[in-house]
Amino acid sequence: MIPPIANRFVAGESPAEALDHVRQLNERDRKAIVNLLGEHYDDRESVRADAAEYRSLAADIAAADLDACISIKPSQLGLDIGEDVFREELTEIVDTAAEEGVFVWIDMEDHTTTDATLDAFEDLAWKREGGVGVCVQANLKRTREDVKRLADVPGKVRFVKGAYDEPAALAYKDKATVNREYEALLEYAFEHFDDGIAVGSHDPAMIDRAIELHEEHGTDFEIQMLMGIREDAQDTLAEDYEVWQYAPYGDRWKSYFYRRAMERKENLWFAVRAIVGR
Ligand code: FDA
Repeated sequence: MIPPIANRFVAGESPAEALDHVRQLNERDRKAIVNLLGEHYDDRESVRADAAEYRSLAADIAAADLDACISIKPSQLGLDIGEDVFREELTEIVDTAAEEGVFVWIDMEDHTTTDATLDAFEDLAWKREGGVGVCVQANLKRTREDVKRLADVPGKVRFVKGAYDEPAALAYKDKATVNREYEALLEYAFEHFDDGIAVGSHDPAMIDRAIELHEEHGTDFEIQMLMGIREDAQDTLAEDYEVWQYAPYGDRWKSYFYRRAMERKENLWFAVRAIVGR
């Protein structure tokens, strides 16, 4: 059982608990992006086990008729072991998920993985004519060029600011520049994309900008936020827009929860209050 402090951010330890959370989200007109927590595997067994769980998760989502997709980290599928391992496992998951009608997102990790991740996405997206999406990060200097390359690819793209501490030679380090880049990427996407834009941000300014761009260009988009963050805003936005909540689950929840709790003092305060039971 996930303790009360952490269950604000993590949807349980088992697939059944995660799907229960999805059901509750769906009842409130929100859709779910389910992620099994796990990354940087250097053994084939862990990769195989998580890949098998993702395949059965896709079948369970379809069987329960839930509005949900899955999202996977490349290093969870063995990218640290080899690009061939990652591609093999990803292809098998995407094929199974496609049979079940379940969409698959590929998360983006640090800059050393960008090429392998985009290449795998692009190959699969063309071969399967959609059904997959990839995340791009506004803090990376290369992303404007990557996004041009993705404009005609038949899949969705999730835009985020970037969660990894990257070298200054490759990434913008100050918040204002990252925000400026993020806006520029949205502007480009709303003008040139027609296969789906996901705004993966909790930032009210970026969401407002996306809504403006949607009204200006008529391009479809969805808003994606993490479980436990701006839940009220997720509910309000879901009245007018498509809102997807990224809901992680699994027994490796401690480090994920630690990251969420440390990134904002409000979360830390919430955690302390929960610990002292007030
Ligand atoms: P940012 O941290 O810049 O804050 C801007 C404003 O947003 C704040 O001033 C506040 O108003 C609001 N806000 C932000 N966090 C809040 C909180 N906890 N509580 C209340 N208000 C808050 N990264 C990556 O590198 N690879 C990936 O694959 C993904 N995937 C991904 C999926 C989804 C669905 C999301 C939402 C995010 C990711 N990310 C990611 C993470 C992303 O790169 C980024 O680190 C975080 O979303 C934080 O940036 P924001 O744009 O949300 O707001």
